[in-house]
Amino acid sequence: MRTQVCIIGAGPSGLLLSQLLHQAGIDTVVLERQTREYVLGRIRAGVLEWGTVELLERAGVGARMHAEGFVHTGTYLSAQNRGFRIDFDGLIGKKVMVYGQTEVTRDLFAARDAMGGVVIHEAAGVQPHGLETDAPFVTYTKDGTEHRIDCDYVVGCDGFHGVSRKSIPSSVLRTFERVYPFGWLGILSETPPAHEELIYANHERGFALCSMRNDHLSRYYIQVPADEKLENWSDNAFWDELRRRIPADVAETLVTGPSIEKSIAPLRSFVAEPMRWGRLFLVGDAAHIVPPTGAKGLNLAMSDVHYLHHALIARLKDNEDDGIERYSETALARVWKATRFSWWMTTMLHRFPDQGVFDQRIQETELAYLESSVAARTALAENYVGLPF
Ligand code: APR
Ligand code: PHB
Repeated sequence: MRTQVCIIGAGPSGLLLSQLLHQAGIDTVVLERQTREYVLGRIRAGVLEWGTVELLERAGVGARMHAEGFVHTGTYLSAQNRGFRIDFDGLIGKKVMVYGQTEVTRDLFAARDAMGGVVIHEAAGVQPHGLETDAPFVTYTKDGTEHRIDCDYVVGCDGFHGVSRKSIPSSVLRTFERVYPFGWLGILSETPPAHEELIYANHERGFALCSMRNDHLSRYYIQVPADEKLENWSDNAFWDELRRRIPADVAETLVTGPSIEKSIAPLRSFVAEPMRWGRLFLVGDAAHIVPPTGAKGLNLAMSDVHYLHHALIARLKDNEDDGIERYSETALARVWKATRFSWWMTTMLHRFPDQGVFDQRIQETELAYLESSVAARTALAENYVGLPF
């Protein structure tokens, strides 16, 4: 088989890139290791920057997001059970969309189907070859048969554990990593959200987040030790601990119920450089991971796709190389800014195991400064709603 762009991974990055390239008349094949049901079973963050919203609109997948998503014009921070608001709209005239990543992925699959896009599921042993030549190709096995796809470019949208990044020689690849000494225990419950906007709570017992999917579906997280066991947390224990950490007035009216999903996620910051090697490009989680504080993961993947689809269209339609030559540098500049922001939010809001009373006071002062300073709140708002791309 031959295609112009072979995309490895059918997460939001791979699907959106394939959709945007197809709209521009460029042929793609997407190779995905898992079934579609598996991909759609993952629960991830749910806050879209407005740049992401506009990119999804341009890709023709905005309708359900606008019908079912919730526009938020601010968010709450809380310290020691007392909250204050960051007014995105008032500070910088911007907003975000609360719409789950799973739903974004579902809409992208539907759009790919509607356009006759080729997404090959259960592709095993996917392996790129000849990336430093003019004739790269990708091999894989499906139903016991080996296949080969010849292409002009290979794009690694295969997440943190994918094969693409590993194809870059270790003499070329540099990685930067911070592993945080805690995780997030998250639950999804069919209960009304605790509050109309998200609440990010700093508390001496640990961080907590009140989030939501819709009027009757809520998502909550509490910070737990990195090696915590899920079975230590009954639903009741979770609700009790959440109540202790969030603003007192919200805790009083919190509606609880059985969890329909419960899991622990580790927190890490990770960046791989460069994001291009020969005819291979890395996009999204394949190149970088951010901790979920600030919900930047999906949004960063979307800005990578934005840069790369323009670059590939310029190359394949108009023979212009500038975009692909500069892709890595352009994408990484934004990646590092979001990496800094999510590291800063994480550091400001979590309890670290070695945190002394000095560090505790510094955190409280950082939050007090945010509450009192328009300049500080503006900087937070600008990053939270997303830096331009
Ligand atoms: N071969 C084929 N497919 C693979 C391989 C492989 N060797 N390895 C991984 N994949 C697939 C995974 O099964 C997954 O469906 O690549 C896809 C990667 O999707 P995501 O992990 O969702 O990554 P991405 O599309 O970049 O989306 C970024 O997802 O993890 C969140 O926080 C992140 O929100 C961000 C978004
Ligand atoms: C979520 O709703 O899952 C969510 C929201 C905001 C975050 C992280 C996760 O910062």
